[in-house]
Amino acid sequence: MAKIIAGFGTSHTPAIGAALDLGKAGERYWAPVFAGYEKSKAWMAKAKPDVAIVIYNDHVNAFDFKLIPTFAIGCGAEFTIADEGWGPRPVPVVKGYPELAAHIVQSLVLDEFDMTIVNELQVDHGLTVPLSLAYGQPKEWPARVIPLAVNVVQYPAPTGHRCYMLGKAIRKAVESWDEDLKVVIFGTGGLSHQIQGPRAGLVNTKFDTDFLDDLSRNPQRLVDLPPLEYLREAGNEAIEMVMWLTMRGALGDRVEEVYRFYHVPASSTAVGHIILEAR
Ligand code: DHB
Ligand code: FE
Repeated sequence: MAKIIAGFGTSHTPAIGAALDLGKAGERYWAPVFAGYEKSKAWMAKAKPDVAIVIYNDHVNAFDFKLIPTFAIGCGAEFTIADEGWGPRPVPVVKGYPELAAHIVQSLVLDEFDMTIVNELQVDHGLTVPLSLAYGQPKEWPARVIPLAVNVVQYPAPTGHRCYMLGKAIRKAVESWDEDLKVVIFGTGGLSHQIQGPRAGLVNTKFDTDFLDDLSRNPQRLVDLPPLEYLREAGNEAIEMVMWLTMRGALGDRVEEVYRFYHVPASSTAVGHIILEAR
């Protein structure tokens, strides 16, 4: 049986990817950010998941305003790296798992989640930066990846409750796959950030810390948080945090927080990271 062993929550700030790609990770501004992921890379190397399901958002790269799926799942054999204006990031192509992705789609649709099937998908920093933080700069990514894109760019984003229920349904889908696989689910984006307008640079450390605490202590409070609350309290782009609730929902009732990291600022974001093991 396939099993979701843990959740890996992390910000996906594009400047982190650029710092790594341009050899700036050791610089004074960036070193503390990368230091915060050393333990995570060691945890990943030990856990060795076969598959990573990455809950992320596209930033008008794979999808533009002509077509905006609320929940889209990558079912292809590989996913190329999007050119976000400076050429594609110099990272390995992302290998998919079409058979498992198709199984997950079937299970989710039968559970009444209207998934958009995407066979050709270019992945942007929302997915590649978390992989870089988890794995560093390998020649090939060590796990197969199933990208699951959530619309948090164009209003209305799905509620935290919907995202959480999707996570529960993903757990059921994975556990009904008859092959011994270790799966880690990524929740990406956030934490507080606003990248435009008069409130640009807004960071709400208390909101972020309470959010990280309650992932294990009181997930129901987060599930009940209305989408507008994220924007009001922690900046426009903080709505990305709802994607962490899909990760949380996929872990079952009991989790143990085994690692956490929080750092301000990286670009205009509060960088947050957590590893939750399913118990
Ligand atoms: C920034 C953060 C994001 O999550 C993003 O998608 C784009 C930019 C930033 O902080 O610059
Ligand atoms: Fe983002």
